[in-house]
Amino acid sequence: MGLPILFALVFFVAMAGVGRGEPTQEKAALLAFISRVPHEPRVRWNANASACSWVGVTCDASNTSVVELRLPAVGLVGPIPAGTLGRLTSLRVLSLRANRLSGPIPDDLGNLTLLRSLYLQNNLFSGGIPLAVSRLGRLGRLDLSGNNLTGEIPFALNNLTHLTGLFLERNRFSGSLPSISIDSLVDFNVSYNNLNGSIPQTLARFPPSSFAGNLNLCGAPLPPCTPFFPSPAPSPGGNPAGVSKSSKKLSTAAIIAIAAAGGALLLLVLLLLVICWAFRWRRERQRRREKAAKGVGAAGGPGRSGETGMTSSSKEETSGGGGAVEVERNRLVFVGRGGGYSFDLEDLLRASAEVLGKGSVGTSYKAVLEEGTTVVVKRLKDVVATKREFELHMETLGKVDHLNLLPLRAYYYSKDEKLLVFDYLPAGSLSSLLHGSRGSGRTPLDWDSRIRVALAAGRGLAHLHSAARLVHGNVKASNVLLRQDLDSAVLSDFSLQPLFGSAAPHNRVAGYRAPEVIETRRPTFKSDVYSYGVLLLELLTGKAPNQASLGEDGIDLPRWVQSVVREEWTAEVFDVELMRYPNIEEEMVQLLQIAMACVATVPDARPDIPEVIRMMEDLLNRTEGDDALRGSSDDPSKGGSAGPTPPAATTP
Ligand SMILES: *[C@@H]1O[C@H](CO)[C@@H](O)[C@H](O)[C@H]1NC(C)=O
Ligand SMILES: *[C@@H]1O[C@H](CO)[C@@H](O)[C@H](O)[C@H]1NC(C)=O
Ligand SMILES: *[C@@H]1O[C@H](CO)[C@@H](O)[C@H](O)[C@H]1NC(C)=O
Ligand SMILES: *[C@@H]1O[C@H](CO)[C@@H](O)[C@H](O)[C@H]1NC(C)=O
Ligand SMILES: *[C@@H]1O[C@H](CO)[C@@H](O)[C@H](O)[C@H]1NC(C)=O
Ligand SMILES: *[C@@H]1O[C@H](CO)[C@@H](O)[C@H](O)[C@H]1NC(C)=O
Ligand SMILES: *[C@@H]1O[C@H](CO)[C@@H](O)[C@H](O)[C@H]1NC(C)=O
Repeated sequence: MGLPILFALVFFVAMAGVGRGEPTQEKAALLAFISRVPHEPRVRWNANASACSWVGVTCDASNTSVVELRLPAVGLVGPIPAGTLGRLTSLRVLSLRANRLSGPIPDDLGNLTLLRSLYLQNNLFSGGIPLAVSRLGRLGRLDLSGNNLTGEIPFALNNLTHLTGLFLERNRFSGSLPSISIDSLVDFNVSYNNLNGSIPQTLARFPPSSFAGNLNLCGAPLPPCTPFFPSPAPSPGGNPAGVSKSSKKLSTAAIIAIAAAGGALLLLVLLLLVICWAFRWRRERQRRREKAAKGVGAAGGPGRSGETGMTSSSKEETSGGGGAVEVERNRLVFVGRGGGYSFDLEDLLRASAEVLGKGSVGTSYKAVLEEGTTVVVKRLKDVVATKREFELHMETLGKVDHLNLLPLRAYYYSKDEKLLVFDYLPAGSLSSLLHGSRGSGRTPLDWDSRIRVALAAGRGLAHLHSAARLVHGNVKASNVLLRQDLDSAVLSDFSLQPLFGSAAPHNRVAGYRAPEVIETRRPTFKSDVYSYGVLLLELLTGKAPNQASLGEDGIDLPRWVQSVVREEWTAEVFDVELMRYPNIEEEMVQLLQIAMACVATVPDARPDIPEVIRMMEDLLNRTEGDDALRGSSDDPSKGGSAGPTPPAATTP
């Protein structure tokens, strides 16, 4: 009697659950995905709420299945776990573009047979295109560009008969192009891969830029694959390989005759070109003059107006009907691998901006784009580098790639405005963590954390010096930015000096500046080591360099530490906040010795940064080895070592 009622009740409740928007299976799959892939905090999926209300998730009208998942540029990192997204079998759109997803494209995406659009561009995916992708028979857009994909482009893509856009550019695909013949295909791009061989007839209708930047592609629309053009000649007309091959069979006289005829022809062609060019140039000048008269070209860089300086007169550039020159001039240039971002200058100018800090190289803003991405925009002032120098240097900086260095993402150069774009790290800087609101109930930075952050910054600096051969020039605690994982802390603002020439505003780093730099005004590897030494002293003493509390004004941190140590009050130099941790005195004294070596007055007396890192790692390994002793205070040789062995004061 009661049983059927109970069943009915359970059934009703279950149905109610579905009605309220609980595609339960898919919710579990989504949770399994997000819990295993690091991401930005704004993707906060509340397990108690309906999955249909989550950021990036779209359900069908009746809330019974998830039809779209869009998580562009939300900082997803690492591989897509198997058996997660492959379970969202009702999905029509999957967009994970502009993240740092890596590893292979999972096979189980082949289960999403209703998929219309798959956007995985600008990630770090590696491996080949899985064959499973060819099961997605309804796919219209497939974008895998800007990844690290290898292998051949599979012929089986022909199975995607509804495809309108296929984007495979900027990967490392190799081998020859399969003859893809999909009638619906409108957009096709395989540029910047390692493809070779001839372009199949079926693809010849696409423009040359669809095939540019490959090792050895030839045939229409690129130059032909004739024996005389074994590879697409960079400059059609002057192919030395072709000439030498054919001349083998000819007599000297014939060669002279051919050369003379060829020379005459070449002259004629050149003459024609010059005439054409002169004509066009005159017309162009005429047009420009007309435009200037109309007053459209009133050039204004971004940031002329607006209270924060980031809102702007961007309309001029777009509605001004400007030619290629203007468009080019106002382009945001992304550097490094793919950038991982997908926005343009327009987006940046529309972003809401907040001043993060004013330095003497310029002002930094935190800019929140409309799509939700947050970046730091640094507006440089007093740049003396020419456009060409600026661009070259930016390309160099863009190539610097290390866990502990904040990468440059993009730059913008115009006459009035120079902008640099970096990732935004919400955790703030070492300086604010160390000195911010001291004593007001905050958790002090413990010893282990200090060493880990110092090592992270040091590893970044070592990479900069030994791999990139660049001087940082501005090592200081406010340029050490933290991440959740302290070992991944980064050093920011590196190597900007060359942009300012000898007029570089060096006085900005007063407390960290090596003595010789005051005269030479040129930072060096050794002066970076000095600044890093000051940073270590700052971590040990808890005192900001050059801060008033050091005593009489004018005295800097290294000299203060030296004077205290000379009086054998070594224990006095250490941060009182460190005193609560047991058995670290020996480590502190050893780190103090390393720091003192770094701040030696004579540059050559300072160790190189890799040497410094090695010493610090030794220090860490040694103490990690006897972890058992740490935290127990019954080892007399450890406890009392600080007093009797003051560090060698290297230089007065
Ligand atoms: C979800 O609900 C559980 C109990 O039903 C509660 O403990 C938890 O705090 C809730 N989580 C959120 C994020 O609201
Ligand atoms: C579907 O879920 C959304 C978000 O939770 C909600 O706003 C909407 O009312 C639901 N629609 C139906 C038909 O239940
Ligand atoms: C999903 O794909 C995997 C691997 O391709 C396969 O083993 C599995 O059976 C598929 N699951 C469903 C429900 O189709
Ligand atoms: C081609 O697509 C159809 C569905 O459109 C699918 O059934 C078939 O397995 C696919 N073939 C290959 C080789 O993937
Ligand atoms: C790309 O893949 C290769 C190995 O296939 C790897 O060595 C390289 O580091 C990868 N590049 C990036 C940027 O992940
Ligand atoms: C293309 O490159 C592959 C290796 O990536 C090589 O085996 C093949 O012979 C090349 N084909 C042509 C036509 O050069
Ligand atoms: C193909 O991609 C490259 C690199 O992103 C781009 O420069 C080119 O304009 C694209 N070509 C077409 C036809 O879309």
